[in-house]
Amino acid sequence: MQEPTGCGEAMGRKYPEQVAIAIAKDAEGKFNPITLGWCMNTSGDPAMLAISVGLERHSLGAIRHARQFVVSFPSVQMADEALFFGTHSGRDMDKLAACGTPTQPATRIDGVLLADAVANFECELETELPTGDHVIFVGRIVAAHAHQDASVARLYSRGGELGLGGAVPA
Ligand SMILES: Cc1cc2nc3c(=O)[nH]c(=O)nc-3n(C[C@H](O)[C@H](O)[C@H](O)COP(=O)(O)O)c2cc1C
Repeated sequence: MQEPTGCGEAMGRKYPEQVAIAIAKDAEGKFNPITLGWCMNTSGDPAMLAISVGLERHSLGAIRHARQFVVSFPSVQMADEALFFGTHSGRDMDKLAACGTPTQPATRIDGVLLADAVANFECELETELPTGDHVIFVGRIVAAHAHQDASVARLYSRGGELGLGGAVPA
């Protein structure tokens, strides 16, 4: 039985939510990671991913500047970094350096992969769509990478900024 409630209250019930990290090179030349819950596949052939980035984010300008980005799906072991990337802005700091996050060079774009992630996708910016207080960026996947250990589990959010952590049972 359903009863009417506020949008925020109802949205709070939909967790756990996936966690993704997008990395784009900003105008200063540093690779800036942003933690995202709002990410989805939009096309299988050609393969495309969409991410939704807030108008206030440093990443917005970085993605527009680079027109390329990596979408990385962090492992459970990366919960602290994902929270850090999602609570600090690249406007003020180099987040990857601050966390000492292991990276590998991307192969098809000017980007970096997160070495401990479950998977990384190199994307070229296909288009963008304004949507309220966020912008949807659609990336065409030009290269894909997966962790060599297939048992590494994906990170999900339990809701709330501090609610990161935990693989969801299959
Ligand atoms: C679990 C989690 C999910 C988030 N999801 C999004 C999202 O989907 N879109 C977004 O714009 N910001 C999201 N954020 C907030 C950004 O990650 C945060 O504002 C970040 O500091 C922006 O970094 P930047 O200024 O370097 O781009 C999320 C944060 C957390 C912790």
